[in-house]
Amino acid sequence: MKSERATNSVLTLTEYALLEDSECEARIEAAKRRLGEQVVILGHHYQRDEVFRHADFTGDSLKLSRQAALSKARYIVFCGVHFMAEVADILSRPEQVAILPDLAAGCSMADMADLAKVEQCWRELGQVLDPETQVMPVTYINSAANLKAFCGRHGGIVCTSSNAAQVLAWAFSQRDKVLFFPDQHLGRNTGYQMGIALSEMVVWQPGKVLGGLTAEQIRKAKILLWPGFCSVHQLFRPEHIDRFLESYPGTYVISHPECAFEVCQKSHYIGSTETILKTVRSAQAGSRWLVGTELNLVNRLRQEMKPKGVDVHFMAPMVCMCSTMFRTDPQHLAWVLENLVAGQVVNQIKVPEQTARLARLALERMLALA
Ligand code: 13P
Ligand code: SF4
Repeated sequence: MKSERATNSVLTLTEYALLEDSECEARIEAAKRRLGEQVVILGHHYQRDEVFRHADFTGDSLKLSRQAALSKARYIVFCGVHFMAEVADILSRPEQVAILPDLAAGCSMADMADLAKVEQCWRELGQVLDPETQVMPVTYINSAANLKAFCGRHGGIVCTSSNAAQVLAWAFSQRDKVLFFPDQHLGRNTGYQMGIALSEMVVWQPGKVLGGLTAEQIRKAKILLWPGFCSVHQLFRPEHIDRFLESYPGTYVISHPECAFEVCQKSHYIGSTETILKTVRSAQAGSRWLVGTELNLVNRLRQEMKPKGVDVHFMAPMVCMCSTMFRTDPQHLAWVLENLVAGQVVNQIKVPEQTARLARLALERMLALA
């Protein structure tokens, strides 16, 4: 479908792929002018510069999901990954249309939890305790809509990296334990910051009987962690911090909570992409920062802070870019926008109504906490 010429479209996607970035830039700007308030472009901080600069609103997952809920535009073009466009569809009004410029822009971490395995976990927990009254399901927003719906159906909630502590506090005010998926690191780092011992956070291994745990371990646990992780943030290692600090003592270290526990423990600050930006932007001239998150964000921040005398460094010695965030290029953005100008919607993300209704419950519980 993607590569077919839409009825009134000027070019096929294959033809767009051959255009220079500079030509796409001009086409994107012209299409935005033609569409006016009918379209809003949301851009996550990990988007490449050539796309990021066209966003009407930029932000972390929480900020962008709020923006999607508030937007009045008929078309919400989400320059991010699949689960973000799903959230935009779920939280927007029925007549609004969420669009993901490249349908292959997924999130490998989100794919690490699936409904069948989470449901099986829930059933098996039922052999040891009563999950409906004792276990609160909490899904990171980086998850498929049907997992958000699972949480909605079982009294649970969604969290993002910027409100995970607040969401866990709410969860523990309702039930004794939390089942947290898919990101084990966000769950562990947040639980530990809240004073939960590592021994009270156990990893549930899908496919093993009782997740590879004993009934006693399940009864004693406060948080049951799904074994998901972000392939980008797992590349940051504590030795990267040690080596940098040996050469540049006095450097401040700031990491995203999707990083491993050992990395977060060695960091002065931990926060979402938005928090990282706010913290470094308010840093004193002359300070040096080592940042553990995706490269596009860090490179932009480095350029922005250089004239202000703040020195920003990327944590890993190798390139760590999110390859799925990177998929959205100016060619795809020009393609979806020019199709809208021609009266055609391509790459709409539509969550089935029953799933959307339950997922909305879990998302609204989160949004209500603010
Ligand atoms: P935030 O922007 O919410 O910090 O999330 C980071 C991320 O990995 C998005 O997929
Ligand atoms: Fe998913 Fe990690 Fe990419 Fe974020 S950075 S979209 S969590 S793979």
